[in-house]
Amino acid sequence: MANKTPKILTIGKATQDVFLKSDEFDPHTEGKVVYTHLPLGVKMEVKDVTFATGGNASNVAVTFARQGLEVEYMWTLGFDPASETVLNDLDKEGVATHRVARKERYQAGYSTILIATNGERTILNHRGVSTGVNGTDLDFSAIEEADWVYPSSLANGGIDLMRKIVDHAEKSGTKVMLNPAGPELAEPKKLKSLLESVDVFCVNKEEMQMLVEGETLEELVRHGLQYVPVVIVSDGPNGVMASDGKTIVRAGMYEDVKVLDRTGAGDAFASGFLSQWAKGKSLKESIIFASANSTSVVTKIGAKPGILHRNAKLHEMPLHEKPL
Ligand SMILES: Nc1ncnc2c1ncn2[C@@H]1O[C@H](COP(=O)(O)OP(=O)(O)OP(=O)(O)O)[C@@H](O)[C@H]1O
Ligand SMILES: [Mg+2]
Repeated sequence: MANKTPKILTIGKATQDVFLKSDEFDPHTEGKVVYTHLPLGVKMEVKDVTFATGGNASNVAVTFARQGLEVEYMWTLGFDPASETVLNDLDKEGVATHRVARKERYQAGYSTILIATNGERTILNHRGVSTGVNGTDLDFSAIEEADWVYPSSLANGGIDLMRKIVDHAEKSGTKVMLNPAGPELAEPKKLKSLLESVDVFCVNKEEMQMLVEGETLEELVRHGLQYVPVVIVSDGPNGVMASDGKTIVRAGMYEDVKVLDRTGAGDAFASGFLSQWAKGKSLKESIIFASANSTSVVTKIGAKPGILHRNAKLHEMPLHEKPL
């Protein structure tokens, strides 16, 4: 195991993303809610348009590939333009896609992302059409062949399909990293019941507060450790806290960059962590790379263009490590 390149399988929906940038999407606050206002019946000028692909499982696959791991992406896709684009992107990155089940009835997701001047965004998402709770057409033997499985954003499969994948991984001795997305977070009770089968769990602060008690990042991490051996809780530009049960790391901001588009920040962070952790790097080294990867991603439009390559030079960052 030590000398072998780890193999990671990512499972989940993929999308074609079209990014439109304009100051017309700048925030307007009404009470506690922040809106972007689009007047009806007018044609508005958009300054920039960028085409990219996304979807959590496809984004993280690219981090793993660029970091030299063996990586496979598995899902159900169709023959629509978005599915074609997603597969082309992954092929170019060297992500194996031979087990993607392509059928006429399936369709990749399609998102239009409205970016405001401050980098915040509103996403108009069509989920596409994909497999359901039973994971029909997915080849579960792929899980047995991998060292790690990273399922995220399983569309209609939701938390029940997540359970099937995690159970299969547990039976096969395949490790599981979870960075749950919308469909899984919608069922916090079921998500929590999965945790004892998870090896690395990464969520943001608000998400962790849906699962365990705690106000501070440290409280949340410590409570998470009752279920999962490695817990990472992020808090946007405020940094992260993580523990592997031996030490606890508090990291600040890697670099104070100008945020162009925060799409994919969470994916880059979580996959950045696993890309190092799976190779046997320390908690601290894995957190530094995760932070560098996500910081780079927010400086580019799209979830993938900023993902770091193998030759990327890292620097020190504000970070404290103490025994747990
Ligand atoms: N404004 C920023 N400047 C620098 N780095 C950032 C910024 N926002 C996020 N990051 C980096 O991205 C990491 C993950 O961000 P965040 O905690 O917002 O995750 P998330 O809420 O899961 O994101 P997502 O919405 O993509 O799922 C942070 O820990 C940090 O390293
Ligand atoms: Mg997230």
